Amino acid sequence: MTEAAPMKAADLFDLTGEVALVTGASSGLGKRFARVLAANGAAVALVARRKDRLEALAQEIISGGGKAIAIGADVGDEAQMKAAFDAAESALGVVTILINNAGISRASHLIKGDVQGWRETMEINVEAVRANAVEAAQRMTKAGKGGAIVNIASILSFGVGRWSGAYAVSKAAVMQLTKVLGFEFARHGIRANALAPGYFSTELNADWLAGGGAEMMNHIPMRRFGNEGELDGALLLLAAPRAGAYITGATYVVDGGHTLQIAGV
Ligand SMILES: NC(=O)c1ccc[n+]([C@@H]2O[C@H](COP(=O)([O-])OP(=O)(O)OC[C@H]3O[C@@H](n4cnc5c(N)ncnc54)[C@H](OP(=O)(O)O)[C@@H]3O)[C@@H](O)[C@H]2O)c1
Repeated sequence: MTEAAPMKAADLFDLTGEVALVTGASSGLGKRFARVLAANGAAVALVARRKDRLEALAQEIISGGGKAIAIGADVGDEAQMKAAFDAAESALGVVTILINNAGISRASHLIKGDVQGWRETMEINVEAVRANAVEAAQRMTKAGKGGAIVNIASILSFGVGRWSGAYAVSKAAVMQLTKVLGFEFARHGIRANALAPGYFSTELNADWLAGGGAEMMNHIPMRRFGNEGELDGALLLLAAPRAGAYITGATYVVDGGHTLQIAGV
């Protein structure tokens, strides 16, 4: 060990010079992630299908002194995503941080045989995450740069729920995919990690959390769902080149202790 001076937190988590592409930046967690990355110095490429929302967010970031571009694209469409990476690159530079956040949840029981819901879930939550990670890594390598990939998993990567069979399988796959990416990309100076949030109220689940899902709070040791901003620290840790320098292939749980308990014990 050398005697290097300890860094200040602001320097450890500084993202100046980084270009971050955030999928699903039009609402919920992705919108917050884009704001946090921009607030810490990254130029941000905002990707989702609802481009009007992205444009409003880009405007907000730019008027706050940051750099941002709104790019309308469907993560399930390979050509659209290649074009999105091209647009990000020509406006801001090579993407060095990818936040693979876009995701869907289709409530159903597998026995109902909803093959379309299963396929859509795998296409958006798994296949698009793989394709984006590979696209980003190939571009970084070609440019002679390293970088960081953060995939958004879930506490359903570790266990299963009542209505969410396809979603739970997809998020378990995201966790395993993250290990493979971390392993394969390490030699290229690219880290890949996942963030596994517990429950945060967003468009994805607000109705359910306010209704039938509210009962779940009794099983969370902190007795509440997550609040906006409570993923910021973990996101920055995994994304920042200095703070996260030796972290790869990991899945970080941020859930108020939700996954700690074995039911009935
Ligand atoms: N909220 C939670 O409690 C929670 C917990 C664990 C994990 N997560 C994960 O966190 C991520 C974000 O979820 P959220 O809660 O923030 O939900 P949300 O508010 O519904 O946001 C989902 C985002 O994904 C985008 N998206 C969906 N399909 C897309 C597609 N085909 N192409 C491009 N973008 C697409 C949506 O944008 P457009 O509709 O504009 O395209 C939207 O911006 C998801 O991966 C989710 O599984 C959430």
